[in-house]
Amino acid sequence: MPLLPPPPEGYAARVPWHEEAAELVSVGLDVFGREQRLAPGAAGAWLAMTNAGASDGVRLLLISGFRSVARQREIVARKLASGLDWEEILRVSAYPGYSEHHTGCAVDIGSAACAHLTEQFETTLEFQWLKMRAGEFGFTLSYPRDGRSGVAYEPWHWRWRRVARC
Ligand code: DAL
Ligand code: ZN
Repeated sequence: MPLLPPPPEGYAARVPWHEEAAELVSVGLDVFGREQRLAPGAAGAWLAMTNAGASDGVRLLLISGFRSVARQREIVARKLASGLDWEEILRVSAYPGYSEHHTGCAVDIGSAACAHLTEQFETTLEFQWLKMRAGEFGFTLSYPRDGRSGVAYEPWHWRWRRVARC
């Protein structure tokens, strides 16, 4: 398992710790053809939301769902090994154990109209639709522009929050 430096001082006060989901169900393939899993409640909500989007002519693409703590460690370690600045890495990727993706209740959503995981997502019809309708399905934007978590703005990252453990 790759070793990492500790997170910066005060990190845990800004970014909550998350347990890995105890139960996960498949929500089908993501844009890369990989099977994605979510916690059961989030999975049902995600499928309902994508169906509602489709009815409105909006195609919500799934980029990423559940991610284990070990996988998060690999992602962060790879960025560190490539020479990126430690604090900048943690503005974009959560320290292992602190990613909402561990809960199985967070999704990264894409649009055919822009590159994945870029701020351009906020200019898409999909994002405009999410701003209007995601709340009906229990999804909220986790990392708004100028949020206090210290995590960079992520218009693509939405979290389902209808049960306490999510
Ligand atoms: N990109 C978000 C912060 C994560 O790594 O969970
Ligand atoms: Zn995300």
